[in-house]
Amino acid sequence: MKIFLDSANLTEIREAVSWGAIDGVTTNPSLVAKERRDFFPLLKEICETVNGPVSMETTSREATGMIEEGRIFAKLHPHIVVKCPLTKEGLKATRALSREKIRVNVTLCFSATQALLAAKAGASFVSPFVGRLDDISADGMGLIRDIKTIYTNYHFSTQILVASVRHPLHVVEAARIGADIATMPFAVLEALVKHPLTESGLERFLKDWEQLPQEGKAAWLSGKSTAKSPSPLPASTAASTSTRAGSGKARASAPTVSQRR
Ligand code: E4P
Repeated sequence: MKIFLDSANLTEIREAVSWGAIDGVTTNPSLVAKERRDFFPLLKEICETVNGPVSMETTSREATGMIEEGRIFAKLHPHIVVKCPLTKEGLKATRALSREKIRVNVTLCFSATQALLAAKAGASFVSPFVGRLDDISADGMGLIRDIKTIYTNYHFSTQILVASVRHPLHVVEAARIGADIATMPFAVLEALVKHPLTESGLERFLKDWEQLPQEGKAAWLSGKSTAKSPSPLPASTAASTSTRAGSGKARASAPTVSQRR
């Protein structure tokens, strides 16, 4: 499953790109407005930062306006995907833009019937908003399951882009269902990385490591060590190293050559 960042913030986008974590970006008018920057240069910079699709939303209510905006957006950068809302006008614009080979992400999808129509109109992506459905006590991930079944039944090539993701379980569930993409805010992406056992495990490893004579370590790291053999290891490190070398109980209990004699 691909991961997109749902953000127009360049600092967040650059950081996520540096982790090798994201395959694209989605924006919407609210996210862009938060940046208080000129719309076009910002979107261009985002496109140059990310090696993948960048969704940019039209803001007209009529199909003609969306089509006009879409054509202009598409010229900005090859990464651009034009976002149109899931309305009758949005479907008209999707049909027209797709026929011109401009990729469209149909957004604000809240039902399986809407997703079916987006696919029929030729959308490259459909964005069902799971979090906003959960907010009104509807089953957001249930909608993703339905869309997946429908698209599979009829071999639609429209990609399911799970949007309005609020927490890591949405991401796990989207991947289980086989959604194509999940787009999420930076805070959710960060939460995907974190695990308390990773943090406590690392603390322990680093504490043990600090027991090494520091001058020796610094010399080895700088390549200036003149030592012929490594300094003695601290007890805890030595114990774990010998367990690994012996690869478990079976080998440890096997008789040595001298024992066999
Ligand atoms: C998707 O493209 C939308 O920008 C986004 O996921 C909306 O999320 P929200 O419901 O958290 O605003």
